[in-house]
Amino acid sequence: MAKGFKITLAGESSVFWAEPGLTVLRASLRGGGGLLSSCRNGTCRACQCRLLEGEIAYVIDWPGLSAEEKAEGWFLPCVAQARSDLVLLRPTEA
Ligand code: FES
Repeated sequence: MAKGFKITLAGESSVFWAEPGLTVLRASLRGGGGLLSSCRNGTCRACQCRLLEGEIAYVIDWPGLSAEEKAEGWFLPCVAQARSDLVLLRPTEA
């Protein structure tokens, strides 16, 4: 399978790869990024991270974030797929 896009956690040594078709959360769980999660369907916000670099696309129509949060770079990795290499901040560091 293709390696996909490189995902880096800013300020950490953790790097993992998002294979095609995987959400960023599933890629982190497979690749050792270890992002937090609970519902995994875009409602609880446990997985919320800040996107510093790169592009994502959502796999659902209405991820549970406000327009302001999206504008500030917040996104939900459990319902987002990478469309380029990404650099993320975990919530505690954002
Ligand atoms: S795990 Fe609940 S919104 Fe992502």
